[in-house]
Order: sequence, then C-alpha cells, then structure tokens
Amino acid sequence: MNNHPLNNKNVILGVTGSIACYKAIDLASKLTQLGAKVDTILTDSAQQFINPISFKSITHRQVVTNLFDLDNELAVNHVAMAESADCIIVAPATAHTLAKISHGISDDPLGTTILATNAPVILAPAMDGKMFENPATQENLAQLIQRGFFVCGPEFGRMASGLVGLGRLSNTQDIVQVTSMILGKNSDYSQKKILITTGGTQEDLDPVRTITNRSSGKMGFAIAEAARDRGAEVTVISAPTSLNNPIGINVEKIKSAIDMQQSIENHSIDCDVLIMAAAVGDWRAKTIAKTKTKKLKDQNWEIELVKNPDILSSIKNDSLIKVGFAAETENLVENAKNKITNKKLDLIVGNDVSRTDIGFNSDNNEVVIINPYGEVENLPKMSKYELAHEILDRVQTLLN
Ligand SMILES: Cc1cc2nc3c(=O)[nH]c(=O)nc-3n(C[C@H](O)[C@H](O)[C@H](O)COP(=O)(O)O)c2cc1C
Repeated sequence: MNNHPLNNKNVILGVTGSIACYKAIDLASKLTQLGAKVDTILTDSAQQFINPISFKSITHRQVVTNLFDLDNELAVNHVAMAESADCIIVAPATAHTLAKISHGISDDPLGTTILATNAPVILAPAMDGKMFENPATQENLAQLIQRGFFVCGPEFGRMASGLVGLGRLSNTQDIVQVTSMILGKNSDYSQKKILITTGGTQEDLDPVRTITNRSSGKMGFAIAEAARDRGAEVTVISAPTSLNNPIGINVEKIKSAIDMQQSIENHSIDCDVLIMAAAVGDWRAKTIAKTKTKKLKDQNWEIELVKNPDILSSIKNDSLIKVGFAAETENLVENAKNKITNKKLDLIVGNDVSRTDIGFNSDNNEVVIINPYGEVENLPKMSKYELAHEILDRVQTLLN
C-alpha cells in the first residue's frame, strides 16, 4: 500500500523471551505486507521460544541473534542499523528487557541497537500480571516513557499461566496502529484538525425499537485512521457501530440525527475539515412511545415520521472544508451533483450502496468524486483505507 506510513520504512523488530513470542511472527508479517523493511533481532531467551527462520521466511531480511556473529553484517554493524531505522518495535517486551533498556544495559544486539538509535522506540510489554504490577517494572516503564519511549499495552485478559490480569501482549492491529501513528506524525496533515462522522444514526420508536440503516461505520473509521496516519488531530462523531475505536482518535458516540447535529455544531468550531461519512436518517418518529408498544390483534401500528433537520445549516465555521457522501441506489452521479450544490459542499463522494461487494459493511469501496464545478472522477475499487487517502489527497489540495 503506497500511501501507508509503514511503506518503505526501515523497522527493527526486537523479540524477547516471552511466551507471547509466537505473536511476533504475525506482527512481522503484517508490517511486511504494509511495505515495511523489517529486520528482526531475537534475544537469546526469545530463541528458546521461537526459531529465527520463521522471521527470515516472512520478512526476507536478516535476523540478528548474536552480537558477535561475524557472518551477519547487521549484527556487527548494529550502530549503522540503529541509525538507519525509522522505528524500533519491541514486541513482546519482557520485564527483563524493559529493566535492561531503562538502565542502558547493552550486552546483546537489541540493547546495543536501542542505545544507539534516535528513532522512536515502541515497547509492547507482555508478562504475568504480578510481574507487570511489580514496582520495579512500573518504575522502569515510567522512566522509559519519560525519556520518550512509546508503550503499547499490555492488555487485560487470560495469560499463559491461566491467571487473568493486566499483562497480555497488545494485538497485532493495535501495535501496527500505534506505529503508523508515530511514523505519520509529521506528515501533511500535522497541525490540522479533522472532524469525521460515521455509522448509521438510530431514531427511537419506543424503548426497544429504532429506525436505522445499514451503514457499518467502516468508511468513516478508515478516513479517521488515514488522517491520523498523516498527522491530523482527529475527532470522530460515531453513530452506533460494532467497530472498536481506532487508537489515537477521539471518538464521541451519539445516537440520533439531532444528537449528530448538536455534536457537529460543538466540534466544528475550530476544525479545518469536516468529512461526513455517516448515514444520517432523514426522518424520525413524530412521537416516541414511553413504553414498549404492544402487538394487539388485528391492529396495525401507524408511525408518523417527521423530517430531521439539515445538519449543515447549524455550522458556524465559514472556513471549514466540507466533504459529503452520497449513498445512492440509482442515478448516482446526478443525485450526488444535486447534493453538492444543495448542501454547498467542497467535494462529494458518491457510492452505489445497492452493490454487495462495496459500500455498506464492505472493506472495499468504488466511488465517484465530484467537485462543485460538476467534474466527475471515477475511482477504481480499492480498500476503504486506500480510498480514505485518495479523499485526503484531494482535500489537501483544497487546504492549500
Ligand atoms: C515458559 C516461560 C515463559 C515466560 N514468559 C515471560 C513473559 O511472558 N514475560 C516476561 O517478562 N518473562 C517471561 N519469561 C521469563 C523470561 O524469559 C526471562 O526473564 C528472560 O531472562 C528474558 O530474557 P530477554 O528479555 O533477554 O528475552 C518466561 C520464561 C519462561 C520459562
């Protein structure tokens, strides 16, 4: 993926002697798939759990296992390796390695490389809950954070011992997200504030029933992640979705169209860009029953719907760049063109939600992007994260 912050980056993956070592193979694979050049360093203890060949086969690059290995260029040249790194990830990071790093001990390839680097170092601890709670570990971590190291996790859950506690290695996706965010910090959206809406709003009929739509929230969250990975400060206003909040993004949960309007009004004041990927309900029930509406024999339930307000009309920030989405099942371009004019948007992204391979709930999308002059750009089918970058590229031109 060309526009991913990990693409073409030199990443050193340090793997230390935890039972969670096997998860580092998945991490090495994911980083490589995203275009990173991953050199792995295994501590002696890590090699008790896992074989270097697993990493070599996945990354197709050198794996360092011994500081004094004359046949391994990277081992001997660990200072050069440290200097050329864009970032170092230690996952899993044992209590022992955290202690060593915090005291500057460099008796192995990982310790020497970390001492010699200026690149950001991300530590993903994994250990028994009591080991993690121990004041020695906590003090070591606090000192490392104070020195500018980044820490991802650990998570709460069941550990190898069978005990439940705080000590599980963060999942691969979270470690990748933290790394992407750190690598993208100074990109073209740094200093920019972006507000994104996502999900499908819900309008109550009674305490148990709602009117909603099929929007999954995936498109809005993909834009949020892409903007975060380009250095933006991102807020997402999210109508109900089953998705986890992305790392490093402020998420405000709302339910109805009126909640959405209120929230946009509050957050848009000091934002540079508003991207409205949420599917906002056009109608709501005129009255909401206070108790559950009972099913009575031979009796239908007639619901009167009233129009929801126009969300954009309450925005008070004139310099805001506004990007809308048009989810259509017919006459896509014509309907999207009408919407960009009626809503006075700077760009509109139209997608055909009648197709099952794109749009609602899919990981991919195929869209048209239309500007206020009516110029239509057809984009091929791509992942929602890639599409998010395409949209952000065009918004960047407007910002300039
Ligand atoms: C089966 C087993 C599992 C272990 N799991 C962990 C662990 O998850 N986290 C940890 O901090 N230490 C764990 N240890 C202890 C470390 O392997 C030990 O402290 C070692 O010295 C770490 O060396 P390193 O940090 O240089 O890799 C484990 C040890 C054994 C025998």
